[in-house]
Amino acid sequence: MRLLVCGGAGFIGSNFVRGRLATSDDEIVVLDKLTYAGRRENLQDLDGDARFSFVHGAIEDPAAVAGALEGAQAVVNFAAETHVDRSIIEPDAFVRTHALGTYVLLEAARERGLRFLQISTDEVYGSIEEGSFSESSPLDPSSPYSATKAGADLLVSSYHRTFGSETLICRGSNNYGPYQYPEKLIPLMILNALAGDRLPVYGDGLNVRNWLFVEDFAGAIGHVLDRGEAGQVYNVGGPDECPNIAVVRRILELCGRDESLIEYVGDRPGHDRRYSLGSAKMAGLGWSAAMGFDLGLGRTVQWYRDNAWWWEPIRGGAYRDYYRRQYGHSLDAPPA
Ligand code: NAD
Ligand code: DAU
Repeated sequence: MRLLVCGGAGFIGSNFVRGRLATSDDEIVVLDKLTYAGRRENLQDLDGDARFSFVHGAIEDPAAVAGALEGAQAVVNFAAETHVDRSIIEPDAFVRTHALGTYVLLEAARERGLRFLQISTDEVYGSIEEGSFSESSPLDPSSPYSATKAGADLLVSSYHRTFGSETLICRGSNNYGPYQYPEKLIPLMILNALAGDRLPVYGDGLNVRNWLFVEDFAGAIGHVLDRGEAGQVYNVGGPDECPNIAVVRRILELCGRDESLIEYVGDRPGHDRRYSLGSAKMAGLGWSAAMGFDLGLGRTVQWYRDNAWWWEPIRGGAYRDYYRRQYGHSLDAPPA
């Protein structure tokens, strides 16, 4: 099969492409706009593989999409703006990429009769105090990020109902692992801890996330692509839930630092208290998560320790400007 993978230069997309090339005979074309979060370096180890190619372009550009789609049998769409905090500062790109971009891809897939898999998130369901969301839970997003992702999901479903397009949606819980941009909780805390910088914890630190190792999510996406039923949604939850402060404390331990680096900061507006996804439908496709959180977190810390070449260039320039704007002080401000 020849696949078009949109957003394949990001965190989850690059892990998916690497895993898929290793475990199938597929040819993969990545189409990616290379935003601040999309990095060619994430795929550089695949450049010698004749089954892999890269196209620089945006999903909202019909000409770029048409060119990249030549000969493809299916589309997997990871392309998105993905950071909740940035969606609060500047929602514009979120609306453009999630609404317009997904529409352009859906049209191109419809014209060519292609299978279309949209990668989505548990955040479209909003927050849940107890129990877990299922695929039939109502959508109740809190942030501009999750609201525009929910909008994209509804558009995808409409193409199945209205035009009979072969669409699927895969909603994942919080991913962590190699190649995650250090604006998200786990890589941010790892790099700050390794450098001896402050670790900014929002609110009371008791918000709970449902952690899923990225290679497990990548495997689940492959299952849905190969075996999922058109028109269906599949939830992919991680095996473990954990309050943020416990994640941060464990990272400090793994990095050999003490808790004096923790800095409680103001809460995120609209901060969802808890996410939890049931994965019973994925079990029906023969998938289950292989990586427990503690082992996966240890591996992730080790990956960041071993790959300073990857993250050192990120922690300068525009990242520092973003950091100051978001946290109100410079990245390397001394512990309070
Ligand atoms: P990421 O920010 O690391 O990567 C996003 C990629 O999309 C980047 O390579 C970026 O350059 C590209 N991109 C952005 N706008 C584009 C556009 N207009 N055209 C083409 N490319 C564009 O994100 P990620 O964490 O890898 O997330 C990938 C997908 O998975 C997203 O759709 C996200 O909503 C979803 N998701 C993420 C998580 C998570 O925990 N990170 C969990 C569940 C679902
Ligand atoms: O649940 C899936 C979602 O997970 C994905 O759809 C998103 O793309 C991805 O960014 C992630 O969203 P979250 O908002 O849950 O992830 P983030 O890493 O930003 O935050 C995780 C938790 O940590 C959340 O409760 C907020 C908190 N946090 C985050 C940052 C960046 C802090 O306490 N301090 C921080 O500095």
